Amino acid sequence: MKKIVVLALCLAALTVQAACAKTLVAYFSVPETDRAPVTREEENSVVTIKGEVVGNTQYVARLIAQHTGADTFRIEPAVPYTTAHAALVAQAREELRRNVRPVLKGTVDLSQYDTVFLGYPIWWADLPMAVYTFLETNDFRGKTVIPFVTHGGSRLAGTPAKIAQALPGVRVVKNVLCLDRDDVEEIAVREVDAWLAALGMAKRK
Ligand SMILES: Cc1cc2nc3c(=O)[nH]c(=O)nc-3n(C[C@H](O)[C@H](O)[C@H](O)COP(=O)(O)O)c2cc1C
Repeated sequence: MKKIVVLALCLAALTVQAACAKTLVAYFSVPETDRAPVTREEENSVVTIKGEVVGNTQYVARLIAQHTGADTFRIEPAVPYTTAHAALVAQAREELRRNVRPVLKGTVDLSQYDTVFLGYPIWWADLPMAVYTFLETNDFRGKTVIPFVTHGGSRLAGTPAKIAQALPGVRVVKNVLCLDRDDVEEIAVREVDAWLAALGMAKRK
C-alpha cells in the first residue's frame, strides 16, 4: 500500500513538473536605430515591420515567441551600447580583446524553464560578451539550450561550441537557426516555422 502511495505521489510530481515546464526566448540584439526611415548602414541591423523598427535578432526572437507561446527575456548590459555603428564596432572589438563580462541590466528566474532559446548576433566572429555574462551568471543545469543566430556573413562562427564550453553538461541543440542579416526580413517567418517544426516545438494556434 505504501509503495502505491509513493508511486502515485511520484507520478503526480512528474505531471506537475511537466505542466510547469516552460520555454524562454532569451536574446541579445542591438538595433542601430529604432526610427524609420533607416539609413543604409542602419538597415543592416534592423528589420522594419509595419513601420516598427526592431533588431534582426530581436525580430527572430519575437517570431519564435509568437510561434511557441514562450516568454521572452532581452539580455541587455547595464550600460547601454551606443547605436552609432563605428563606435559600436570598436567597443565590441575592445570588449572581445579584453574578454570582458559586461554587467547586465535585469535578471530572469531560469528555474521555471526547461528549454531556453538563445539568440544573438555574431560580433567579431564570436558571441557578444554580454551573452557570455548571461551564460555564466545563470544556472542552466538540466535545461535544453537552442541557439539562433543572425550574422553578416560569418554564419555561426563556431559559437554553438563556445556555448557548450560555457555550459558544461548542458544539452545544446545542434540544429541551430542561422540567418543572414540580408535575408532576415524576407525569409525569417518561413525559416522559423520550418525550424520549429523540425525541432518538434508545437506551434500555438
Ligand atoms: C559590433 C558588431 C560586430 C559584428 N561582427 C560581425 C562578424 O564578425 N561577422 C558577421 O557575420 N557579422 C558581424 N556583425 C553583423 C551582425 O552580426 C548582424 O548585423 C546582426 O544581424 C545584427 O543583429 P542585431 O540587429 O539583432 O543586433 C557585427 C555587427 C556588429 C554591430
